[in-house]
Amino acid sequence: MENPFVIKPYKSKDLFCDREKELEIMVTNCLNYSDMTLISQRRIGKTGLIMRLMDELKENHSDIATIYFDIMATRTLDDFIKLFAEAIMKSFKPKTSIGNKFMTLIKSMRPQLTFDNITGEPQFQLVYQSPQEKVQTLQGLLEFLDSQGIHIVIAIDEFQQIREYPEQNMEALLRTYIQHTQNLTFIYCGSKKHMMTDMFVNEKKPFYSSTSFVTLKKISVESYSSFIKRLFAENGRTIDEDSVHFILDWTRRHTYYTQMLCHTVFANRAESIGINDVKDACQQLLSQGESTYLQYRQLLTAKQWNFLIAIAKEGSVRNITSAEFLGKYKIGSPSTASRLVEALLEKGLINDDVTITGTSYELNEVFLSRWLEKM
Ligand SMILES: Nc1ncnc2c1ncn2[C@@H]1O[C@H](COP(=O)(O)OP(=O)(O)OP(=O)(O)O)[C@@H](O)[C@H]1O
Ligand SMILES: [Mg+2]
Repeated sequence: MENPFVIKPYKSKDLFCDREKELEIMVTNCLNYSDMTLISQRRIGKTGLIMRLMDELKENHSDIATIYFDIMATRTLDDFIKLFAEAIMKSFKPKTSIGNKFMTLIKSMRPQLTFDNITGEPQFQLVYQSPQEKVQTLQGLLEFLDSQGIHIVIAIDEFQQIREYPEQNMEALLRTYIQHTQNLTFIYCGSKKHMMTDMFVNEKKPFYSSTSFVTLKKISVESYSSFIKRLFAENGRTIDEDSVHFILDWTRRHTYYTQMLCHTVFANRAESIGINDVKDACQQLLSQGESTYLQYRQLLTAKQWNFLIAIAKEGSVRNITSAEFLGKYKIGSPSTASRLVEALLEKGLINDDVTITGTSYELNEVFLSRWLEKM
């Protein structure tokens, strides 16, 4: 029996929990050609939601075409162009009219994109001469899509990665070309929250104020508990109310971790699931993670490690420089605490949740947090 608690970004609508409101907003934005930025804590479900949206568009707005690509692994503009071209090919198969035209374009392009069909999946090679020509290729791809007479939604995942390219002014360049398109709607998504925010909220940056924001929070207790109960029930299992609450509490409703725990409980095959089955699964996950957690310790200074433990023990810390918190864990001065926060944010180990009433901090990795709190 297949495990219904999937841990890849998206499988199907039935196995995807809630996000109805966010989805509705995103569909509306798409219909209105309004570009979007999706920002949230790590592993909360950004990529999954984009997949869900594309599924929804396919089902109910089939006149809109979709293109998705993830640029996490790209290092240069060449890589970007290559992935973009491959994503276009995936969306418009060679036998379709647009796919056909795209192949013709590819063949005519200078710098050349050559198509490799050995694997069956489209794979391109960029053969270019100058930086100028690369830029023309990029512009060519966007112009091509824009001139097909259909509405296309293009999602670029891990978008902040363009800041790592050696090419100067990538943001300005992309912004300029994108600005001139008529029929394309862009979704920018990224897991480095601070960088993404800087790209879209800083008025000195090219993408400033060019999109509307979609913020992903945690899924509500009501939605997640009925989802969990339904998926177990549909697979001939039962789970009691206490166990469901324990799962949501222990994983803090952080999507990836909640899915992972449910996945493990399911995999352990108990038919009527009680609190002990859940606790066993928790223990199992912590043991599995242990060697990784110990490696983290190697990468941190003793002070950083102790600070991480302090946050883990608190679960979530509101006043990170308060005398009470600093004294309780022997952290030192407020300025030491601020430096430690910076370092751990930079390493992606903690998350800052900024609200009107203040900022609270917690560990990004829930299982690591649960492991550290026992120290
Ligand atoms: N609404 C949902 N229902 C069920 N599972 C979900 C949902 N959203 C996300 N998930 C699960 O949570 C995990 C993380 O989701 P996803 O990869 O989309 O997060 P992300 O925010 O893009 O993470 P990252 O910051 O690492 O890019 C995935 O395993 C996915 O299966
Ligand atoms: Mg993602």
